[in-house]
Amino acid sequence: MKVTAVAHTNIALIKYWGKRDEKLILPSNSSLSITLDKFFTETTFEWDDSQKKDVLVLNGVEREDAKVQRYLDVLRSEFGIASRAVIHSENHVPTAAGLASSASAFAALAVAASASLARNDSKMELSRLARLGSGSASRSIFGGLAIWQKGENTDGSDSYAVPFESELTNQLAVVVAIVSDQPKKISSRDGMKQTVQTSPFFGEWTKTAELDLELIKKAFAHSDFTQVGEILEHNAMKMHATTLSANPPFTYFSQESLLVMEAVRKLRADGIEAYFTMDAGPNVKIVCLKQDEEKVASRVEPLVGRVLICHAGEGAKVIQNENGN
Ligand code: DP6
Repeated sequence: MKVTAVAHTNIALIKYWGKRDEKLILPSNSSLSITLDKFFTETTFEWDDSQKKDVLVLNGVEREDAKVQRYLDVLRSEFGIASRAVIHSENHVPTAAGLASSASAFAALAVAASASLARNDSKMELSRLARLGSGSASRSIFGGLAIWQKGENTDGSDSYAVPFESELTNQLAVVVAIVSDQPKKISSRDGMKQTVQTSPFFGEWTKTAELDLELIKKAFAHSDFTQVGEILEHNAMKMHATTLSANPPFTYFSQESLLVMEAVRKLRADGIEAYFTMDAGPNVKIVCLKQDEEKVASRVEPLVGRVLICHAGEGAKVIQNENGN
């Protein structure tokens, strides 16, 4: 059955950085994210017995993609089938911001591939399946805040995301400062691998990330935005410290990223609560309350040229199938 699914990307407030099992994509620490409304992937998927090979059309262009190819083999083995897949996928990223993410891509793929077989997988099972494509995709199954539990089992059966409710979720804004729309120089997959293998701080990172997760959960439970902001900003900097201490060292910071961070500190000095986070690229995401989003955006825009204001987005879902539902 041909189905179309949509998934939004997410930004981690407590980062996933490092795997304990590369093949099964099992993380060294649990993480927490917010799914965003502005960036999403729409994927039309069909398992097709008449095809001799998998077909992937991305933004209208037929492509070979090793990550997707590997993932389809994983799904075939999970589902116990041999069929080939025909995939049409569109990344909806306003103004080509270069923020298309593997999170939305693999979450949409997992949901569509499962629905195409009418499997009725639970959200937690879909999250586990999405994880097998890209770790952060496990969190995009859910809207709002989600926690990817690292799990304890060696087969990954307990490593999936769960929703996390907070009254703060719908008060939050994420102002994305678009520093660059170029592809990242070191992918997150390679960057975290290099860090795990060579940074003397990696063990400390996983411990501190687990502690941060417990603290931020309490802060969200008390709707304490100041605490939430301080924890998320510190957590991002601790993650990036592991790249600077890798061998050879590397960094995702650019000059503009540092300028934006400085502007955010200045905003705070001026009484506007805003906190920054960064992933495996130079764009800076600023977390603030909706009431301050315009002030934050107008302060940062002159530094980078382009900003986008996002709010909490929805979880991944099927939007159409052949039965017209
Ligand atoms: C810095 O999920 O892209 O964005 O599991 O290897 O596909 P793979 O990596 P990916 O890594 C995301 C890393 C991060 C932090 C985060 O999203 O938690």
